[in-house]
Amino acid sequence: MKSVPDDSSQQWQRYYDKTVSRPPREFLRTTLRYFQTAGDAIDLGCGTGTETLFLLRQGWQVLAIDQQAPAIDKLTANTPTPLTNRLHTQVATFETIELPPSHLIWAGYSLPFCHPDQFTVLWDKICNSLHSGGRFVGDFFGTRHVWTDNPKITFHTKEQVLKLCEPLHLEYMQEGEGEQMTALGGMRHWHMFTIRARKP
Ligand SMILES: C[S@@+](CC[C@H](N)C(=O)[O-])C[C@H]1O[C@@H](n2cnc3c(N)ncnc32)[C@H](O)[C@@H]1O
Repeated sequence: MKSVPDDSSQQWQRYYDKTVSRPPREFLRTTLRYFQTAGDAIDLGCGTGTETLFLLRQGWQVLAIDQQAPAIDKLTANTPTPLTNRLHTQVATFETIELPPSHLIWAGYSLPFCHPDQFTVLWDKICNSLHSGGRFVGDFFGTRHVWTDNPKITFHTKEQVLKLCEPLHLEYMQEGEGEQMTALGGMRHWHMFTIRARKP
């Protein structure tokens, strides 16, 4: 098995098959407590949309974006009819997307897969998309992550993540590093930052 992910559909399909039945991430549940009302959310790199479905069930309007059409198809098929009027989907790449105004941008394990040359442009779009009081929640890979030999993936030092967050108010940041089982199996060295930041 390859230790470094590539952007092939097959590789992502294997990830979807392994993760489609997992529960929504706890950090998203926690994040929603910071909002008094449901609003407009974007799930960036949504995969098969576990977090999108959770947000829809909590009353949010969600734009779910992923480069993989089969992932979006699966999400659409899994969305109960009463929720479909609040679901919008887009098959698009991080390198080319335009983001509408939003109250919450969720990017679970996805942003690092933006090409390093385009990351700053994407990050500016994220910051510009957020309403005042809106939040970004997501993960960055650290510079000691196992996949650093892949030139298509973006890695950040802690200082770089803090710098990116300067236009926002950083509410939460956790650095994690260690040997961890990947979704596709096998122990790998993970180095990651998870943040929640609010636009002033
Ligand atoms: C590790 S998966 C995470 C999926 C989901 N957010 C989750 O937490 O399970 C990363 C997702 O990002 C998407 N992705 C990777 N590179 C992308 C790019 N350049 N543009 C848009 N989506 C991308 C993949 O297709 C994949 O669905």
